[in-house]
Amino acid sequence: MQARLQGAAGRRGPGRTGAGKTGGLALRAKPPAGLAPELAQALAQAQAALQARPNDIPTLVAYAQAADRAGLRAQAVAAYRRCLEINPHLHAIRHLAHALSGEGMLPRAPDDYLRWVFDEAAPVFERELRALKYQGPEMALAAFHAVAGSDAPPQRIIDQGCGTGLNAEVFARHIGMIDGIDVAARMLDQARARKVYDRLLLGEIADVLNRSDRQYSLALSTDVLIYIGEIEPCFTATWRVLEPDGLFVVTVEMSADEPVRLMPSGRYRQSDAHIREVAARTGFRVEHAAFAPLRIERGQEEPGGAYALRKVAGGAPAEPKEGAAS
Ligand SMILES: C[S@@+](CC[C@H](N)C(=O)[O-])C[C@H]1O[C@@H](n2cnc3c(N)ncnc32)[C@H](O)[C@@H]1O
Repeated sequence: MQARLQGAAGRRGPGRTGAGKTGGLALRAKPPAGLAPELAQALAQAQAALQARPNDIPTLVAYAQAADRAGLRAQAVAAYRRCLEINPHLHAIRHLAHALSGEGMLPRAPDDYLRWVFDEAAPVFERELRALKYQGPEMALAAFHAVAGSDAPPQRIIDQGCGTGLNAEVFARHIGMIDGIDVAARMLDQARARKVYDRLLLGEIADVLNRSDRQYSLALSTDVLIYIGEIEPCFTATWRVLEPDGLFVVTVEMSADEPVRLMPSGRYRQSDAHIREVAARTGFRVEHAAFAPLRIERGQEEPGGAYALRKVAGGAPAEPKEGAAS
């Protein structure tokens, strides 16, 4: 999973000279000095495959991934852009091209990208995240305790982007009832195996919430807003399904400067000011915020934040339009 999400910026547009048979990709680009032998070998194999099948999208994607891992950012971006020339409807590829190039941004990671990453990762997801010292659910629990107390009564919980259901484990003693939403069916399969969730709903968060007939006292979103750039539709839909005074507990990756930033990893960062501004606009009061590393990323601590947001009475945002979020 991590390898899929890793990327880097750069630009070498299609049409450059040097490898006419490969749609402008410069296949003879030298790998960086000191590249690990297995990465160099994977790159050489991907280059050979691309030489043979220059317009085959899986081959281009495999080449882009090998180039990215080898540190050839411009080559990876060029390969993704070549895919988009062949088929402009490949939204997952567009998201990766934006992330690696640092140019452009979709409102959120597309569904096909999320399914691509998480359906395959589902069986190993928890093991990989443990290895990365992932703290999202624990940070959310601490934020919840900070405002509701550690002896808070059982909650009616909606677990947004529930994945394999780690929140059901960490929040176990606060569960009165818990529903989960995820766009990746195989992640939901893992969550289902826990036999804790009442309903597991397949779909996009705002979309599902805007159609929900249930009300909740606690909405959880751990490591999910990192796949959403424009977070307002999710906040508005959450407000809609929360009981009066309900809590929305979220974790985010923190941006120190821009309000929203798409990283080469394919994940979005949000600034503290931006979270607070969107919360205020959508009918939430920030009752608690704490900052700590969310996980280790390429040997570095990922700056994270956990917020407890209270639904404000009378702060009703405009009713979402039918099917507004997709
Ligand atoms: C990194 S995992 C986190 C899972 C879980 N919340 C946890 O903390 O372990 C992100 C999950 O959110 C889901 N996801 C991301 N954006 C989503 C969206 N807009 N709608 C539905 N699911 C989404 C992904 O499919 C994935 O299962």
